[in-house]
Amino acid sequence: MADKLYYPNPELAKNAYCSSMEQYRKMHEKSVKNPQEFWSEIAKQFYWEAPATEDKFFSYNFDLNKGDIFIKWMEGASTNISFNLLDKNVKSGNGDKIAFYWEGNDPDDYSRLTYRKLLEEVCRFANVLKSKGVTKGDRVAIYMPMILELPIAMLACTRIGAVHSVVFGGYSSDSLAERIMDSKAKVLITTDGVWRGEKLLILKTICDEALKKVKKNSHEVECCIVVAHLRRLSPQSAKSDSTGKTNGVNGTSDNGFDIPEIPWDDDRDCWWHDEVEDTEDKCYPVWMNAEDPLFILYTSGSTGKPKGVLHTTAGYLIYAATTFKYVFDYHPSDVYWCTADVGWITGHTYVVYGPLANGATSIIFEGTPFYPENDRYWAVIDKYKVTQFYTAPTAIRSLMKFGDDLVKKHDLSTLKVLGSVGEPINAEAWLWFYNLVGHGKCSISDTFWQTETGGHVITPLPGATPMKPGAASFPFFGVLPEILDEDGQLVEGEGEGYLVFRQPWPGMMRTLYGNHQRFQSTYFDKFHGYYCTGDGARRDADGYFWITGRIDDMLNVSGHLMSTAEVESVLTEHSSVAEAAVVSKPHRIKGQCLYCFITPNEGIKFDKKLQDELKKRVRERIGPFAQPDVVQHAPGLPKTRSGKIMRRILRKIAAGDRNVGDISTLADESIVNVLFQLRPQV
Ligand code: WTA
Repeated sequence: MADKLYYPNPELAKNAYCSSMEQYRKMHEKSVKNPQEFWSEIAKQFYWEAPATEDKFFSYNFDLNKGDIFIKWMEGASTNISFNLLDKNVKSGNGDKIAFYWEGNDPDDYSRLTYRKLLEEVCRFANVLKSKGVTKGDRVAIYMPMILELPIAMLACTRIGAVHSVVFGGYSSDSLAERIMDSKAKVLITTDGVWRGEKLLILKTICDEALKKVKKNSHEVECCIVVAHLRRLSPQSAKSDSTGKTNGVNGTSDNGFDIPEIPWDDDRDCWWHDEVEDTEDKCYPVWMNAEDPLFILYTSGSTGKPKGVLHTTAGYLIYAATTFKYVFDYHPSDVYWCTADVGWITGHTYVVYGPLANGATSIIFEGTPFYPENDRYWAVIDKYKVTQFYTAPTAIRSLMKFGDDLVKKHDLSTLKVLGSVGEPINAEAWLWFYNLVGHGKCSISDTFWQTETGGHVITPLPGATPMKPGAASFPFFGVLPEILDEDGQLVEGEGEGYLVFRQPWPGMMRTLYGNHQRFQSTYFDKFHGYYCTGDGARRDADGYFWITGRIDDMLNVSGHLMSTAEVESVLTEHSSVAEAAVVSKPHRIKGQCLYCFITPNEGIKFDKKLQDELKKRVRERIGPFAQPDVVQHAPGLPKTRSGKIMRRILRKIAAGDRNVGDISTLADESIVNVLFQLRPQV
């Protein structure tokens, strides 16, 4: 292969946990050939109230022909995750170490939490949850911005064995309602609101709308706990008073800014600070079985209904901890920063669980890369002397366009490892990240993984792997990837096809919450004996894996996955729309953007007003990140004789590529030309 290799900086390699390809290969071989030995060694770092039963350390079935799919690790073991993340660190002398630096939207708002303080806050809130009747196995929905109460709430759930379901704070009330109903959450935790850049969002209003919908569908959330976040911010940013005490009454700021009214239901709602006041800061952990549920996290499904990915206790803990340690090569004095929102899996595993399991110091950042200026990321790295920086290609591309000077203005010399996640990173963005941000001496971990995989599955290791820009490279310990062709035949050596995995690693999902059937049909039915990722991959002559993108009906906009069906169903609900088809179009910054084809109902004019209404509707119903870039008129859609929409052709039209390939299977070939003619100039 002609690809240039970028070797790890020898300084970094020297002290790395895995410092050569030889060591990597040895460890990987052991991890897949003898998983029990490999992982039980690692499990020794943690506290187990009861140990795993020797002969039941690891069992699974990936083959539907042999019965139901199941994955079990460390059966018989019991532990508590919050105990391992907090008490254990405090007991080992790390109590005064900073667990989290919090950097607010406004640079004047910042704070910090030590491991000891974090433990106290978690215990306090766990006692609050108990007082609300939450017990082991109950689901708790969390809809919050990036503030310290978010990991506190999650860990408080784990303390008492409740299952958290974090819903990304950018989701609409419909999306929130759907997720609350699916998980039948008993409690919802949120904030009054949040500033994102210069925009104020009143999250509590969105929660109230969602809870109304939930009630209409005959489920009731018993209690909504609200952090008074807006009221405690600095005068510059909060523009509010700092009492946060009065229920539902508007706050007024020193500089005259009024906090909009926060809707309130006295029977259901309570303020976080009122609840924790005078609450005991000790809470004995509930010991959980290895396979007891830890959390549910929803991800888009190709039918449109979100899938509640379920992760369990022991396997997730050891996998999150191990990937974090090796993929970022975290050492005790490092300061690590992952920019992902905790509402996504990256935030779960690499803002909360992985770093804390390693006793790490990390940053929780509430703001955006563009506020107050477009150099905010670089300013934060400089301020906290960050050593590991983990972000997404879409962020890198959107920052590249502001030029190099904004980066050069700051001292980024502390950086050792850079990380990328969420979508394939193009070589141009990789090189900019490497040369400018990493000043040519940092390793880049291009981490391929999914909500379902729980942690990294294909990734370079910073001290070992020679890097190729854009290649996710090699499997992590315990992971055995394969490439299959359409007929399920193994592609050996160089080649491209479906990316699948042959055996489970500890951190992979166990089921879809309440729907094991869907779990089996989504991931295990296409190729019996393998977990099917839904992504395509290529293996090059040197054995490197390159992820080529989704091969199912999923769209990846700025690293946010959504399904065509999800967006189409919102569009077709509009009374003027007869039919809709959504495809992705390559986008310079977002990676992909949404391109919608709309067939209006008879007699309806397709005009700018309708286009704007449809864009707004998708934004409101799914979330701002889902807003379509293009809404095109389509008097008809390219369909096969059996009525299946050929999205392959629509993708070509969206891209303006006349090379549409074979269209002879279409019921009406002439529609292709019509659609090209109606294509707006974008
Ligand atoms: C894509 C995010 C290429 C992929 C952790 C996957 C990537 C989906 C990469 C999962 C990467 C994630 N290179 N593609 N390094 N990382 N993806 O569930 O299509 O939000 O299936 O998890 O993102 O998205 P999810």
